[in-house]
Amino acid sequence: MEINQSDNRGNWSSKVGFILAAAGSAIGLGNIWAYPSKVADNGGAAFILIYILCVFLVGFPIMVSELTIGRKTGKNPVGAFKAFKFSPHFKWIGFWGIVCGFMILAFYNVVAGWTFSYVFEEIFHYFGNEPLKNWFADLGNGHKNAIFSAFFMLLTIAIITGGVAEGIEKATKIMMPMLFAILIIMIGFVFTREGAVEGLVYYLKPDFSKITFDLFFKAMGQAFFSLSLGMGALITYGSYLNKKSNIPEAAFYVTMSDLAIAFLAGLLIIPAMFVAHHNGVNIFDQHGNLLSSTSLVFTALPDLFHSMQPFIGLVSGVMFFLLLSMAALTSTISLLEVPVSYVIDEFKWKRKRAAIGIGLAVLSLSLVISYDLSLIDLFALLFNDIGLPLGGLLISIFLAYVWKTNNAMAEIRSGYSEVDNSFFGKLWPFMVKYVSPLLIGIVFFQTIYSLFS
Ligand code: PFF
Repeated sequence: MEINQSDNRGNWSSKVGFILAAAGSAIGLGNIWAYPSKVADNGGAAFILIYILCVFLVGFPIMVSELTIGRKTGKNPVGAFKAFKFSPHFKWIGFWGIVCGFMILAFYNVVAGWTFSYVFEEIFHYFGNEPLKNWFADLGNGHKNAIFSAFFMLLTIAIITGGVAEGIEKATKIMMPMLFAILIIMIGFVFTREGAVEGLVYYLKPDFSKITFDLFFKAMGQAFFSLSLGMGALITYGSYLNKKSNIPEAAFYVTMSDLAIAFLAGLLIIPAMFVAHHNGVNIFDQHGNLLSSTSLVFTALPDLFHSMQPFIGLVSGVMFFLLLSMAALTSTISLLEVPVSYVIDEFKWKRKRAAIGIGLAVLSLSLVISYDLSLIDLFALLFNDIGLPLGGLLISIFLAYVWKTNNAMAEIRSGYSEVDNSFFGKLWPFMVKYVSPLLIGIVFFQTIYSLFS
């Protein structure tokens, strides 16, 4: 079957540009806000182990699948499944992804707003202005959440209207190495503090008794979220790839950098949490469970910054929360790009109109969430932990049993001519046919079953 990419869509300006943009989509609040708190909540290293398994056995194969479907068709997730012309019903896979992306962006935006407001928390802490510092630090302040999430959404819309190469690539290029560097520096610092080693042990010493279906469910949801999978974000990004690009190689770089940043974030935040505990900050309830995992990053880290020499603490704190805001921004961009590319392709909207229209629709939901934070957990459960693996399951089944892996391999061969003799080429078809769908299926249905029984 011949599917031609439409010509009037954007394209990545270079291979590095694409990898950076896809890594920019992957690296975000998922790595630095969600991952450490999930590790802390779920028995430390036991979670990491299962998480790594999910990343390699499920995440990476599905990332290659999404990119391949995207490049083959050159379309948004809905258009891509239609372009294959197997059955019009397959478009619902893409449609489900768009729904998940829309709902995830609505709460992601609020958390991104928190991150940015902490830049000011650090500044006012330095100047000793307690009332303002507390205002910016208050995660439960609805007005403040609304203002910051609106600001974040407008920034995202502005970048999206700039188009593919200029907008997305530029934003990512400078930020990633800086984020990496500041994490390393802060890790160096945290280990000079009392209590950090206790955190390190908690982070790296697995307690196998903690490994349950529920842990698998959470790790799986986290892997999809962190790698931006299951909702077609990487179908969309793949649609901007040219035929010369090596898909498995790009996917490998993206997966590894995402994993590395999450691992480093854990290495900073879990010890920081124990340092805070050591300094008298109450982070556990009487049963030894974390008091609030949503706010972990926003309690453990400022505590650490405030314990530094004041000016160094100010610079580190401001830098850290600025970089985290930028990492969140490159993710909100990719979340918004999915529905935007859909209406551009399918309804022939202009990019600007699409970005503004959909951006404002998402923002209205963010405003509701700003005042009722309990919706974050609900949305995360429905559209992330359940929604994304379900999307991934459908994508892998579609690729393996409808389109067929040998056709997908033919697409991958363009840009990677030696794929058939590579380790990847031997393993990947087996993974997408059996391992990934089976693993998602078992974890998913077991969890749904236990939720409703
Ligand atoms: N991967 C992003 C993060 O870890 O913060 C979140 C995300 C972006 C999820 C894009 C899904 C997506 F399509």
